[in-house]
Amino acid sequence: MKRIMLLSILFSLFIFDVNSQRLTLNDFEDYSIGTPLTMKTPSGSISTESTAVVTVDPEDPNNKVLMVTTNNWNTFIEILLPESLTGAMLSDQYEMISFDLYRPDDDPSDWKKFEIYSGSVNLYTDGIYPYQGDKGSWQDKRYYIGETTSSSRYIYLGFNSNNSICYIDNIVLYTPKYSYDYTDPEQTPRYWADLMGKNIGVAITPGQLDYVSDRRTLSISRNFNMIVAENCMKWYATEPSRDEFSWENSDKLYNFAQSNNMKLRGHALVWHSQLPSWVSSDGIENDNNWTKAELLDILKNHITQIVSRYKGKIVEWDVINECLDDNQWKIKANPDNGEYILRENSIWTKVIGESFIDSAFVWAHRADPDAKLYINEYNAEHWSGDKTKALYYLVKRLKESGVPIDGVGLQAHLTLGKVTATDITITFNRYNRLGLNSIITELDIPIPIEQSGLSSAYKQQAADFKIISDLVASKDNSPSLLVWGLTDNDSWLNTDKRGEPLLLNKDYDAKPAFTAVLESFRKKVLETGLCNPVEYVGPQKEYVNVYTITGFKVALGIHRSELRNLPSGLYIIDGRKEIIN
Ligand code: G3I
Repeated sequence: MKRIMLLSILFSLFIFDVNSQRLTLNDFEDYSIGTPLTMKTPSGSISTESTAVVTVDPEDPNNKVLMVTTNNWNTFIEILLPESLTGAMLSDQYEMISFDLYRPDDDPSDWKKFEIYSGSVNLYTDGIYPYQGDKGSWQDKRYYIGETTSSSRYIYLGFNSNNSICYIDNIVLYTPKYSYDYTDPEQTPRYWADLMGKNIGVAITPGQLDYVSDRRTLSISRNFNMIVAENCMKWYATEPSRDEFSWENSDKLYNFAQSNNMKLRGHALVWHSQLPSWVSSDGIENDNNWTKAELLDILKNHITQIVSRYKGKIVEWDVINECLDDNQWKIKANPDNGEYILRENSIWTKVIGESFIDSAFVWAHRADPDAKLYINEYNAEHWSGDKTKALYYLVKRLKESGVPIDGVGLQAHLTLGKVTATDITITFNRYNRLGLNSIITELDIPIPIEQSGLSSAYKQQAADFKIISDLVASKDNSPSLLVWGLTDNDSWLNTDKRGEPLLLNKDYDAKPAFTAVLESFRKKVLETGLCNPVEYVGPQKEYVNVYTITGFKVALGIHRSELRNLPSGLYIIDGRKEIIN
């Protein structure tokens, strides 16, 4: 009877505003001091040794909080979800849970593992036993929750510890939109990519850089550490008339990258598309009647001028873009014969033949020997695809001929629900064995128009993005992942009745796909204990987060002036390796 009464009190205390993007599960204000809450294991047994009791905030006599004492492993606070909400619905609508945590001076354990369950299904577990922050002040804890089909009406949350005393307040669930704060480095993929030593990049247009300090430009510089020109460094834009180069827009991108500690990627030196009419009216016909020697000369001049102007400034180039035919019938006939078919509908193949590829790499390498040089292609991600094998055979031929190629750019214009980790892994491994990189250069995964607005579609998109980001995070020969546009509104697919293919929605808010990439990188960093940290070069903060060199949290949000109080040693401070003496 007492238990039923307690549950009905709990029930009435949920604050659920349907128009809100956040759901407060409990702030304990409507309880009487001394009210106990149930502590249970996720499988249902009640703990009598661990307790949760509503009490007065140790810092504010007018606020009520929950004092949680755990004396045995695997016991958590039981919370009934608001009416009609189940675990499945919770994981469908919300992506993050937060609460305030206060550790009193007598809390015996600094390192404890946070866990959350829907019924008996785990939604989140810390991969390690993290440092839970300094005693004596309230901290904000945030955790991304996983997916479940559980029909349970209860969640269980807390620290899996047999030795812990803490206060908890304001347990809140956040929808994806609400949970993303791009001014906090840890909520941006860039932060974790910097720590991994990977490039996370985005294709942009010069016009997007006209809004200084606006959310538009900040969304670029905070979330990404690399940019690539979506169009403005292509031939039609850089050499509109023969030997007359236009640098204004590429300089604009370079300056933006410089002032935000980002890298600039070059796209694309040789492509049959987006050529100026003085080269070819449609990229296919030789309607200016160039001889092979003349066209080679034109090609050499274009590559040399651009690559040498940005020598040391553009770190990697797509030297060749989309040179293969879509129909690789020879491979279909015999996948192992090593044959590939070049795109016939290209002025370069038609007039020069295959050697334009070898020559382009050599000229680019001469102009900047330190730049990494790539061949870029679409539909070449899944090893089972004919074009993937064709690209591999071409690249193998180039490598064996001594052509200075560093890797392949897999564009990754992918199809929702058709991204297969094992199949793409084979491709990455094949290039690895050739001693070459395989990077993702133009990732987007559109949602078919008829599925727009369905949460299942955004979840599928997140799962597909996760496959790609997990792969990049785990493969040493994959240093870069670039998405082809900033927001869904900016995408080239936006006009094609296929939409919302990117990480941010039209309002610059994070989609589940954004969170999936962020989590994939974050998990990798934490799991590997920051074993390969590089200098974090993003925006600096006055208040910083401090980790041990192996990835354990030491303190969150402390002022830089307090760093001198840390015990001597090597730390990761705001993403940077620093020695404190
Ligand atoms: O600049 C003109 C503008 O003056 C004119 O008013 C307007 C009218 O249509 O067109 C503008 O040019 C457009 C250009 O983008 C710049 O916005 C072209 O029509 C349009 O076709 C062009 O599309 C680009 C496409 O490459 C060209 O093939 C897309 O933005 C760009 O995202 C896309 O990127 C390619 C990669 O380079 C290679 N891999 C595939 C990827 C997607 O197609």
